[in-house]
Amino acid sequence: MAAAAYSDEGFHGRLAAHRHAVEARLAQLTPGDGPVPALLAEAARYAVLAPAKRLRPVLTLLAAEQFGGEASAGALDFGCALEMVHAASLVLDDLPCMDDARLRRGQPALHRRYGEDVAVLAAISLLNEAYAVTARAPGLDAEQRLALVERLGAVIGFRGLAAGQISDLRDRSPLTSQAALHDLNHQKTGLLFVAAVEGGAIAAGAPPAALGVAQGFGRKLGEAFQILDDLIDVSSTSEVAGKDVGQDGGKTTVVSLIGPEAARIEMRRRLDAAIAHLDDAGPGPLSRFAEALFGAAPAAA
Ligand code: IPE
Ligand code: IPE
Ligand code: MG
Ligand code: MG
Ligand code: MG
Repeated sequence: MAAAAYSDEGFHGRLAAHRHAVEARLAQLTPGDGPVPALLAEAARYAVLAPAKRLRPVLTLLAAEQFGGEASAGALDFGCALEMVHAASLVLDDLPCMDDARLRRGQPALHRRYGEDVAVLAAISLLNEAYAVTARAPGLDAEQRLALVERLGAVIGFRGLAAGQISDLRDRSPLTSQAALHDLNHQKTGLLFVAAVEGGAIAAGAPPAALGVAQGFGRKLGEAFQILDDLIDVSSTSEVAGKDVGQDGGKTTVVSLIGPEAARIEMRRRLDAAIAHLDDAGPGPLSRFAEALFGAAPAAA
């Protein structure tokens, strides 16, 4: 379960290679010319292939390495399936009936470019395609694929993203404590991180104990990441963020509840807790990635 120590140089090289592999595979998996209606294919490519950090698929690949395997083609495809789910969630999140955003990934939100009808259909297609990609992920046995499909369902469904988004949009009355906000953040954002890390471990054939470690790390990392996103909302610009900022004005977030400085401390605490789950002999792939991700966190406003 422990990851071997990992040099800085080796890490950055691998990270670049993983990002490159993710971009190339996403381009293959997202429909181009062919039997898919041109408008639907164009909208899907617009949503998925726009410049983005690719955190979730990169986490899957690094987790596969962390938990004793290698960043295989199966792990890559599951990571790309998660990126499709993530892209779909952003398309839906930006709709006028949700956050009503104008900008996403440095370009007009999908519904602003193609219309709401196309946005909804592109999101539904991406969510469903993610299952198909997972079910045929190469090099994995039937048990692994089934486990990954089950994780995907847990991310999206009644206890996952949809649940978190409905609390975020409609049922904010219980959101008066930090604990309630972390739970909401876990549903709407963290479960994708958990699936990314655990999925990498599953694809690598890691033992059950490693899956527990992966879950613990992914959960804390996801909670920290939503705090980072909420800090960006209050302290960055849309030019830098590539999306609308100041969107959370009417909402209670960890940042609005305790203030940006305390939120940064909470974020760091969660990052430390995530890393503490890992039983590393030295800085391994996941702890290095987590540190790098939060190293560039914006200063408190
Ligand atoms: C944004 O996610 C939405 C949240 C869950 C906070 P990212 O910050 O990973 O966005 P992209 O994928 O780089 O566009
Ligand atoms: C992120 O919530 C959770 C999603 C499911 C997209 P936000 O609404 O804060 O995400 P951004 O800031 O629009 O990317
Ligand atoms: Mg939202
Ligand atoms: Mg939003
Ligand atoms: Mg946000």
